[in-house]
Amino acid sequence: MAREFSRLLSLHVFIVLWCLGTFVVSFAPQVPCYFIFGDSLVDSGNNNELVTKAKANYRPYGIDFPQGITGRFTNGQTMADIIGQFLGFREFIPPYATATDKQISTGVNYGSGSAGIREESGSHLGDRISLDRQLLHHKSTISRLSRSQRKTLKKCIYIVNIGSNDYINNYLLYDIYNTSQIYSTDQYAEVLIQQYSRQLRTLYRLGGRKVVVFGLTKIGCTPNEMNKFGTDGKPCVESINNAIKLFNDRLMPLVDELNNNNTDARFTFINLTSILSPLGDVPFPSTPCCHVREDWQCVPNSIPCMIRTLSIFYDGFHPSEISNIIIATRSYVGVLPMDASPYDISQLARL
Ligand SMILES: *[C@@H]1O[C@H](CO)[C@@H](O)[C@H](O)[C@H]1NC(C)=O
Ligand SMILES: *[C@@H]1O[C@H](CO)[C@@H](O)[C@H](O)[C@H]1NC(C)=O
Ligand SMILES: *[C@@H]1O[C@H](CO)[C@@H](O)[C@H](O)[C@H]1NC(C)=O
Repeated sequence: MAREFSRLLSLHVFIVLWCLGTFVVSFAPQVPCYFIFGDSLVDSGNNNELVTKAKANYRPYGIDFPQGITGRFTNGQTMADIIGQFLGFREFIPPYATATDKQISTGVNYGSGSAGIREESGSHLGDRISLDRQLLHHKSTISRLSRSQRKTLKKCIYIVNIGSNDYINNYLLYDIYNTSQIYSTDQYAEVLIQQYSRQLRTLYRLGGRKVVVFGLTKIGCTPNEMNKFGTDGKPCVESINNAIKLFNDRLMPLVDELNNNNTDARFTFINLTSILSPLGDVPFPSTPCCHVREDWQCVPNSIPCMIRTLSIFYDGFHPSEISNIIIATRSYVGVLPMDASPYDISQLARL
């Protein structure tokens, strides 16, 4: 498995270098702007000033990031950062919390650690910006744009990567949230999808036409959930992965439905199960790279593992930069037909 993983890595590192090479010679971004919605998988500092335990603005987060500590929940770049580079943006898209009027014309990052599709998800950790509130922030961004900038919104790329906290920091915390008493996993997937459907339609009404919707990863394979629930001799917590599959299996048809109902829109679905399948159900080193505290985030100022390109996870939940590179690369240019459908991001950008 270790050998397979390093083979996979070298292939991806090659593709990334090739794409970055293309990016260096291109003069302008492929689309006028790039907007990012989601949770800690994409947060670039929006939680720094919030009262919450879900913060990553301390060492050893950011140890491999050019600007150091920023609030990103990983050692280096997030998947949203890397996709931004592929799209040709020279600067990182600024977090909403600090974005200036000049910066917002090329896009804003609304992502917030511990946030979910549902308002209450993550609330036991403190404040967070739920997807509904991220959409309100987007509305306010649009009101700050000039008339000519507003006209370009239909050409921009929007990515949405959210839903993990509706499980990790809601449904799976039986003592704190009551969703698991109210809904079966099937019903819960359905109510999440109904709410997500409304939210994606709001994004459409706000001008989003090229929208990338990320499916969820196999949350039952994160170090935290494996430790908490046990795996019963299996590689991962199967009951959690089954619950996640019920969500993903509804999300892709939702994307198709949004495309059918709105003929001028291009929504696309990214299948992280497919992208991460070589690492899938084979036991893989699921030990976090950093030393984790009780809540499975990194211990402040601790020394992380040395060879970070060999760790899938940076802390107990979050992918390391190398995992983000794999995800971003294959969302940008699909390798298997299942990776991105109906479009990968490079196709979406050109449409
Ligand atoms: C579940 O908890 C929420 C608060 O998070 C509360 O408003 C609601 O009434 C509860 N529902 C049930 C059926 O207990
Ligand atoms: C698509 O349109 C049908 C028929 O009008 C409607 O019932 C359905 O809710 C719409 N779905 C979405 C996701 O917009
Ligand atoms: C994602 O890809 C996996 C592996 O190829 C496949 O089994 C699954 O059905 C796909 N999921 C969706 C929602 O298309």
